[in-house]
Amino acid sequence: MKQVPLFAQMDDDDLERLAQIVRVAEYRRGEQVFLAGDPGDAFYMVISGSVRIYILSEDGREKTLTLLGPGEFFGEMALVDDAPRSASAQALEFARLMVLSRGAFTHMITTHPDMAIKVIRVLSQRLREANSQMEQLAFGDVRGRVAAVLLDLAQRYPAPARKELRIAFRLTQQELAHLTGTARETVTRVLGEFQDRGWIRIDERHYVVCAPERLRELAASRIRNA
Ligand code: CMP
Repeated sequence: MKQVPLFAQMDDDDLERLAQIVRVAEYRRGEQVFLAGDPGDAFYMVISGSVRIYILSEDGREKTLTLLGPGEFFGEMALVDDAPRSASAQALEFARLMVLSRGAFTHMITTHPDMAIKVIRVLSQRLREANSQMEQLAFGDVRGRVAAVLLDLAQRYPAPARKELRIAFRLTQQELAHLTGTARETVTRVLGEFQDRGWIRIDERHYVVCAPERLRELAASRIRNA
């Protein structure tokens, strides 16, 4: 638990107490953790695997808001603002999650200010990312949107001093379509173009960004010109 950034500053006694009140839950690929609109009764931390946070339109279209991997948390919003779940969560692949009850989460952040600040920092980062997604949807074109999504995911778990950025999540083209808010066929065409130009490649079902600077330019260009 010490390796989880959120708990890094806790002393051994606190960690011991925490370990006694958390439970570990396992979800199969595709299994639902909760649905948007559900009451919020717990906080979740990803131990292994990955989770997809998404919203659904009435006619069944999906928009993925983000993907979360080991060390990342979700489900804090409904506990902080007492409103229902703002989005749905589903295991993208087999996932082990650490589950903290509402009472335990509230106790943790009220007795550990450093933990509360870390939660606020992550909320700020997510708001920034949501703003930049909104910017792309309002002003960007589809190539810029795909470039921005690939870069965001590739920079989430950066490998030190590597020019190439490997995306830790195994992504299908359908999942990239949900992330970019675009039809799958369009995503297929854009990815094909990026591959032909040598900007990305696929390595054991993981996308690798070979030319991050090109994708950065593409993600920024339409927005600058808008
Ligand atoms: P909560 O509203 O309790 O349940 C859904 C969770 O998804 C939410 O808490 C956040 O943890 C997470 N979430 C919602 N919107 C976003 C977003 N735009 N980016 C990242 N995570 C989000």
